[in-house]
Amino acid sequence: MKELDELLQQAETGIQQAADLRGLDHYRVLYLGKKGQLTEYLKNLGHLPEKERPLAGQKVNIIKQKIQTLIDERVTILREAEVVNQLAADSVDITLPGRHQQVGTIHPVTKTRERLEALFTQMGFAAVDGPEVEDDYHNFAALNIPDLHPARAMQDTFYFGDGTLLRTHMSPVQIRVMEESKPPIRIIAMGRVYRRDFDLTHTPMFHQIEGLMVDENVSFADLKGVLINFLQAFFEAPVPIRFRPSYFPFTEPSAEVDIGCLSCASKGCRICKNTGWLEVLGCGMVHPNVLSMAGIDSERYTGWAFGLGIDRLTMLRYGITDLRALFENDLRFLKQF
Ligand code: PHE
Repeated sequence: MKELDELLQQAETGIQQAADLRGLDHYRVLYLGKKGQLTEYLKNLGHLPEKERPLAGQKVNIIKQKIQTLIDERVTILREAEVVNQLAADSVDITLPGRHQQVGTIHPVTKTRERLEALFTQMGFAAVDGPEVEDDYHNFAALNIPDLHPARAMQDTFYFGDGTLLRTHMSPVQIRVMEESKPPIRIIAMGRVYRRDFDLTHTPMFHQIEGLMVDENVSFADLKGVLINFLQAFFEAPVPIRFRPSYFPFTEPSAEVDIGCLSCASKGCRICKNTGWLEVLGCGMVHPNVLSMAGIDSERYTGWAFGLGIDRLTMLRYGITDLRALFENDLRFLKQF
């Protein structure tokens, strides 16, 4: 009897100290299992004198009950602790704000393209498209830039080796339009162009808009009128504009157009390299050779064309100082537009 009381005490201490369900099971097997200590006592009851057996049997059963109860209680406590631990380990804080869907914004270059298209279609120009993979003829030869002409070196070209190349400017689109249609022609073409150039102010891919007008009696005055009108509408200000003589093989005469520096109001700053002027586009009267090569009677028709960098224009309009920001896809930058 004394042994049984001691056993109960030991069991009680063990069970209370069991740290988890597995540790607890060890005690269940130890005392109540098929080969457990209490089962042994029951088996050995037969060795006792007959009149002591009922009392001893009762005692063993009571102890067995008590141990079972202790185990059950401990199981409940340990299970609860397990749940609490698990909740603490992978807790979900339901008071946190949810993850919301971000709303996209129009890329600044796309915004500029949309504005350019709106401004020129208002003036009666149709927006057309052309291939980014061009042939040598449309990108160079048809633009009065024959083989080995030094002007080819002006544009570092990506060649594919099979006579095709990535267009280096939007001017090949004017050739395609002239080949396919008859004057009067009034088009703009916007798209990606490529040059082997990569530094602070150049990226290997950038965007250009090309404009072309061909008809009878089209003059340089028309070119000036359209461009001045366009630039002032684009910048929504009476920006100073100057035409500077220049050279392009496909136009004659040719000019480059500068606008008064927007960031210093033409006083001279780092952006305009202290000149007070910013170069924004190239233009000129379409060279008669170019008209005839494209199948247009250069005795009857004249035309003008211009080409302008859309990325540069975007930077000027929105005060962006680093060209690369347009191509890095940094949402902190893009979200501002
Ligand atoms: N294609 C020229 C360039 O990329 C720009 C231009 C177009 C100049 C049309 C004159 C006429 O530099």
